Amino acid sequence: MGTTLFGPSGFPLRVLFATGEMFPLAKTGGLGDAAAALPAALARLGVDITAMLPGYDSALDAACGKRTLARLPAGGTLLLGRTPDSGLPVYLLDWPELFRRPGGPYQDADKRDWPDNLRRFAAFCAAAAHLAQHGDGGGWQPEIVHANDWHTGLLPAFLALHPGPRPASVFTIHNLAFQGNFALDEARALGLPDALLGTEGAEFYGRFSCLKAGIGYAQRLTTVSPTYAREILTPEEGCGMDGLLRARRGDLVGILNGIDTGLWNPAGDPALPRPFAAGDVAGKGDAKAAVRRELGLDPAAAGPLVVGVARLTHQKMADVVLAALPALLDQGVQVALHGEGDPALEAGLRAAAERFPGRLAVRIGYQEALAHRLLAAADIALTPSRFEPCGLTTMYAMRYGAVPVTRPVGGLADTVADVDTAAEGGTGFTFADPTPEALAGCVRRAVTLFADPPAWRRVQRAAMQRDFGWDRSARRYLDLYRDLAPAETGRLRRLAPPSVDPPPAPRPEVLPAASWSEAAD
Ligand code: ADP
Ligand code: GLC
Repeated sequence: MGTTLFGPSGFPLRVLFATGEMFPLAKTGGLGDAAAALPAALARLGVDITAMLPGYDSALDAACGKRTLARLPAGGTLLLGRTPDSGLPVYLLDWPELFRRPGGPYQDADKRDWPDNLRRFAAFCAAAAHLAQHGDGGGWQPEIVHANDWHTGLLPAFLALHPGPRPASVFTIHNLAFQGNFALDEARALGLPDALLGTEGAEFYGRFSCLKAGIGYAQRLTTVSPTYAREILTPEEGCGMDGLLRARRGDLVGILNGIDTGLWNPAGDPALPRPFAAGDVAGKGDAKAAVRRELGLDPAAAGPLVVGVARLTHQKMADVVLAALPALLDQGVQVALHGEGDPALEAGLRAAAERFPGRLAVRIGYQEALAHRLLAAADIALTPSRFEPCGLTTMYAMRYGAVPVTRPVGGLADTVADVDTAAEGGTGFTFADPTPEALAGCVRRAVTLFADPPAWRRVQRAAMQRDFGWDRSARRYLDLYRDLAPAETGRLRRLAPPSVDPPPAPRPEVLPAASWSEAAD
């Protein structure tokens, strides 16, 4: 690793990685995967990194070896545990009133946003900021704070508004469309600092935007692919933030996400009936037979199995997939779809499955192991998007020998090379117009190639052999941290005693920003 490992303090860089979800503690999509795999990859490079996550029930259940570090006068407790798989240290903000409730991290069981999301994530960010400024009460303080998406957008803002020495901040945009926008009055009522309420702060078209806070206040910005980093500077793809992003373009870099090649590994995946690899895909046949049985698809069909695993949303073109289904099935393929999201699209897909028994299977819901089984079984993975910051599912699909049919946008443009236009080693099929006709036409190209087994095998092998591991990208984050860690962060205490100084902002009545009190146990 040479000397790049060390920060100005002469010790390994100390990084706090704050996130709203992290597999397997909590996951609603790709953020959960990336927020687990990147810190683990950085830890493998020798970075002294600790993640921080709200103490959801699922996270408290899954984390190992939890111990209490400090209690917050306003109600929360800071716990330190480890992830069950990578063993990465993780802080959990245990605050039952805010985070321990039935439902998901951001929504209730009926998929309605929790009405107090601003308070929940402002409290989380305030706790993380306090930890970053004063130490964790157990002797650790970061030099770099890395925040992710709107849930942690207020964290760089709280740090920036803090007068004293403070860690440097990085903010990663995983999806610009999720902005965490709330009524300004709600922000005011929570006692958020006045500086945040104006246009120079987090005010965004008359609302209060947690995402804008992250983009505006973090010292460095990253997003999850080079192409998306360019796209979000345009009015078409900038979701209203493009002006601010253009102003900050010198601080913004696109770093392609990697994938966890241990977790998403067809040669060692416990969810599959038989392992397989690029050199021998016989096990894919077993996976296909098993999935056909499981989903009630005709076991003897000759055509390819087309699979889709995605949130059923506008972003993922679920409406276009639904409209294209009759045209796809006309081509002699079988289709298996798994996802959840827009209730109208869920109902539409269920109805379509009833119309085409044995040829179309739809499973509404969210099942981690089924996603693995489906991608292993698939000949073709349907992963189209109107926009896509990175698109991990497409990379998983390629590694599992499922040739993607997708659009060349965002991270998909950076990871899929079209078979017909790539100079060499095409790995999938892409189409430009987000229409059912263009989608069906693109699937037709794939179906035609599927009828030529040696040619198909070449494409499949090329897709499976692409290196999507995290190592290269994790090194880029490490370089970014090193550039950023200003000399003065080296003076931040390596062994910090629990602080007794209340920070100036945000105010303690509503947010947990008063001092840590030492844990009783
Ligand atoms: P996004 O984060 O925008 O949803 P990605 O492709 O980057 O898109 O990541 C999606 C992740 O969520 C993948 O790990 C995928 O397997 C998973 N996923 C999406 N829908 C489901 C589902 N219904 N069941 C299980 N996993 C799902
Ligand atoms: C977001 C994006 C997705 C990306 C993931 C992880 O959910 O929609 O494209 O892969 O974050 O960064």
